[in-house]
Amino acid sequence: MATRVSICFCFCAFALLISSLTLVSASDGEGQSKEFVLTLDHSNFSETVSKNNFIVVEFYAPWCGHCKNLAPEYEKAASILSSHDPPVVLAKVDASDEANRKLATEFEVKGFPTLKILRNGGKIVQEYKGPREADGIVEYLKKQAGPASAEIKSVEDANNLIDDKKIFVVGVFSEFSGEEFENFTALAEKLRSDYDFGHTLDAKLLPRGESTVSGPTLRLFKPFDEFVVDSQNFNVDALEKFVEDSSMPIVTVFNKDPSNHPYVIKFFNGPDAKAMLFLNFTSELVESFKSKYHDVATHYKGKGIRFLLGDIEASQGAFQYFGLKDDQVPLIIIQNSDGTKYLKPNLEPDHIASWLEEYMDGNLNPFRKSEPIPEVNNEPVKVVVADSLEDVVFNSGQNVLLEFYAPWCGHCKKLAPILDEVAVSFKSDSDVVIAKLDATANDFPHETFDVKGYPTLYFRSASGNLLQYDGDRTKEDIIDFIQKNRDETVQPDSVQQETLQQDSVKDEL
Ligand SMILES: *[C@@H]1O[C@H](CO)[C@@H](O)[C@H](O)[C@H]1NC(C)=O
Ligand SMILES: *[C@@H]1O[C@H](CO)[C@@H](O)[C@H](O)[C@H]1NC(C)=O
Ligand SMILES: *[C@@H]1O[C@H](CO)[C@@H](O)[C@H](O)[C@H]1NC(C)=O
Repeated sequence: MATRVSICFCFCAFALLISSLTLVSASDGEGQSKEFVLTLDHSNFSETVSKNNFIVVEFYAPWCGHCKNLAPEYEKAASILSSHDPPVVLAKVDASDEANRKLATEFEVKGFPTLKILRNGGKIVQEYKGPREADGIVEYLKKQAGPASAEIKSVEDANNLIDDKKIFVVGVFSEFSGEEFENFTALAEKLRSDYDFGHTLDAKLLPRGESTVSGPTLRLFKPFDEFVVDSQNFNVDALEKFVEDSSMPIVTVFNKDPSNHPYVIKFFNGPDAKAMLFLNFTSELVESFKSKYHDVATHYKGKGIRFLLGDIEASQGAFQYFGLKDDQVPLIIIQNSDGTKYLKPNLEPDHIASWLEEYMDGNLNPFRKSEPIPEVNNEPVKVVVADSLEDVVFNSGQNVLLEFYAPWCGHCKKLAPILDEVAVSFKSDSDVVIAKLDATANDFPHETFDVKGYPTLYFRSASGNLLQYDGDRTKEDIIDFIQKNRDETVQPDSVQQETLQQDSVKDEL
């Protein structure tokens, strides 16, 4: 869950970027009579696909905004590509139509629009990972429809193909045959929608790097770290791992530069633990942090943890999500794949390595986002924060109704006066507590509380029965529910604890 949200804030930024580009020429496709995009449905999908060596299918829904933006661009691209040799066919399927449900399931359509490239009459299915405006679509699809890897015969070929801002993978061979070449071709076919590939008989034609190679070599060019890396292990899986590993920077930089964003998305999507160092990129300490951080990242390369360096100016979404504050910068936060977090605020460059060591040794206490425990908490509905959740909900021996809310949520605002009334009606009943927790400002155990929307109401009875409330949000129904599910008998132990707690509350007041 945690990872999904962090991916989202990057994706949203990225999607915004893409959609603003799309708007520029969004009206171009209007007024055409002939449609170049084929409309397919369950009745003719298989037949059409099986007749085509290369066909692109858009799964859309009529109400989806991104699909509407894409439509004129897609149509324009289809008209340009209709005269391409060999033909590149663009088609669309209304995946929201019940009758096409099976197709949508078969192609794992999870959002709209989803675009797939189908080759060999549908035997090979690939994700479309290209741009969303007409010229970009045409460029990308021309490349996808051609060979997976382009032969490099001259320095000019190499200069045209290898862009020093992007990753490019070259196979260097003494002849275009043999098992290594076949494995290289299989790799290029498999990863062609993610990376650009080329092959050559002469390493001297390539920019940078050692120009003499002995034996088949896979050479990867990248715009960061070592710039050129080689591998000679031609096992297909090993090749794939090599390409995936080498195409992530040792330290991913997260700032406002869009050319870094693909790596940022990859960083947040990855399965590894994530270390994130946030600082103000205009501060004079930056260089010192960068070099120390880079050393540490190099040291832990391949050990299940990835490193990101974020500029505070570009990371406000991340700050909000993790509950970090500007005055904690420079800070480092690590999130494990299970969601556990560790935080070191106000970090000094010299402490990065030792803190990482403590993390690796398992000596750190987890960090959870929490508002401060309120000093005064005497409204009818009690305020619960991450740091008081345990005491109020799990250890109090009381019957607790807990609302998970978000400050911006309209339904929560509507519920607030109702919860107040419920709380007032239990005012003289010390066995029942009505409480609320701001779920955007406090971490809570997601395996215990399945909060998918706001407000979500949970009830924990004195003896520990946990129930989600899904009745009507009226005072009467909520009170009924509490009366029906509360425990009348409270353990003597808990009673004692409860009185103690009440005393201490009184003391504070
Ligand atoms: C497929 O069938 C649908 C509905 O019958 C029709 O609208 C569409 O034009 C057909 N497409 C092709 C390529 O035959
Ligand atoms: C080619 O790939 C296959 C499958 O991964 C592997 O078994 C074979 O050893 C590879 N060939 C070479 C020369 O590495
Ligand atoms: C970053 O530092 C600059 C210069 O020291 C300062 O003007 C800016 O406000 C800082 N940004 C943040 C978000 O603290």
